[in-house]
Amino acid sequence: MRKRVFSGVQPTGNIHIGNYLGALRQFVQLQDENDCIYCIVDLHAITTPKDPRELREHILNVAALYMAVGIDPAKSTVFVQSDVPGHAELSWILMCNSYTGELSRMTQFKDKSRASESAGTGLFAYPVLMAADILLYDSDIVPVGNDQKQHIELTRDIAIRVNNKYGEDTFVVPEGRFLKEGARIMALDDPSAKMSKSAENELSRISLLDDEAKIKKAIMRATTDSDGEIRFDPENKPGVSNLLTIYGVFTGTSVAELEKNYAGQGYGALKKDLVEVTIESLRPIREKYAEICASGELPRILADGAEQAGAKAEQVIRRVKERFGLGSR
Ligand code: AMP
Ligand code: TRP
Repeated sequence: MRKRVFSGVQPTGNIHIGNYLGALRQFVQLQDENDCIYCIVDLHAITTPKDPRELREHILNVAALYMAVGIDPAKSTVFVQSDVPGHAELSWILMCNSYTGELSRMTQFKDKSRASESAGTGLFAYPVLMAADILLYDSDIVPVGNDQKQHIELTRDIAIRVNNKYGEDTFVVPEGRFLKEGARIMALDDPSAKMSKSAENELSRISLLDDEAKIKKAIMRATTDSDGEIRFDPENKPGVSNLLTIYGVFTGTSVAELEKNYAGQGYGALKKDLVEVTIESLRPIREKYAEICASGELPRILADGAEQAGAKAEQVIRRVKERFGLGSR
C-alpha cells in the first residue's frame, strides 16, 4: 500500500552531505512507492533572524537542490511551507494542546536558546510547527536524520493526545524513518559535533555545491587521531569513523570491507581516496543543479506544489476545525 511520506528542510544555508546522506537520500528512495510531500520549511527558518533577500535565495536554492538530488516533481509534491496557510493555522491549534514542560525538554531548544530570557517564542514553539507540518497531511512516514528523533516523538505524543480527546481518527500517528548508516554525519573539524549548515568554520562541512578545491581542503584537513589505524570505532575514533561512514555510504561499501581494503595504510591514503569519491558523487548533483536553474521551471514547480499541498491540507484543517468546534460552519 502506498503511504503518505512527509519531510522538510530548512532554507538556512547550503545543504551539506549530512543532510543528503541522512535525509535527502531517503526522500529519493521513497518516492517511487509512496505518495511523497517534500517541503521547504521557511517558517522554521525565521525562528532566528534572517536577512529577507538571503532567505528567498536559500528557499530557491533548496528547491533546486531537491530536484538535483533526484526528487522528481512529477512523482512527489515539492512546495514552500509559507505558501500553504494551514501550517501556521494547525500550529496554533496544536500549541493549545502541548505543554510548556515538554517543549522545555527539547534538546534543540536548550542548545539554541542557551536558557536566555530573550530566546524567541518561535524557537520554543518550533517543534509544534514541525508537528503541524507532519499532521497536516495525514503523514505515515517521516524520513529524517537522527537529530529529529525527539521532535518526531513529540509529534506522536501530541497526535495521540488530541486523538484521545477529540476522536481516534482526528490525526494519523506518524513514524520516523532513520537510516542505519548516515543518519548522523559529524563535523569534519570536530567529530564530536554534528555537521551543520550554520557552523562558523566552512571546513566543518561539505556542501553539495562545493567546488573540488574546497572538498579537497575540508577532507584533507579533517580531524582524525594519532594512533594511525584505520578502524571503525565511533566512540574512540570518531573522526576516522565519520570518514569511513561517508565513504561507505557514497560507494555502497560496508565499513568492514573498507577496513580490510585499507589495512596497514595511513589516514592520508584514505582521505585522498575519499576526496575522489566525494567529488565524483557530487558531480552529477552539481550538473543537474545548473540545468534546473537554467531551465527557469522552478517557479512553476513550486506553484503547482503549493496548490497540490494546499488542497490536501484544507481537508485536514476542515476535519480538525469540525472536531474542535472551531468556526461558524
Ligand atoms: P536541517 O538542515 O536542520 O533542516 O535538516 C534537514 C534534514 O537533514 C533533517 O532530516 C535532519 O535530520 C538531517 N540532518 C541535518 N544534519 C545532519 C547530519 N549532520 N547528519 C545526518 N542528517 C542530518
Ligand atoms: N526540524 C527539521 C530540521 O531541522 C525540519 C522540519 C520542519 C521537518 N518540519 C518538518 C522535518 C517536518 C520533517 C518533517 O531538520
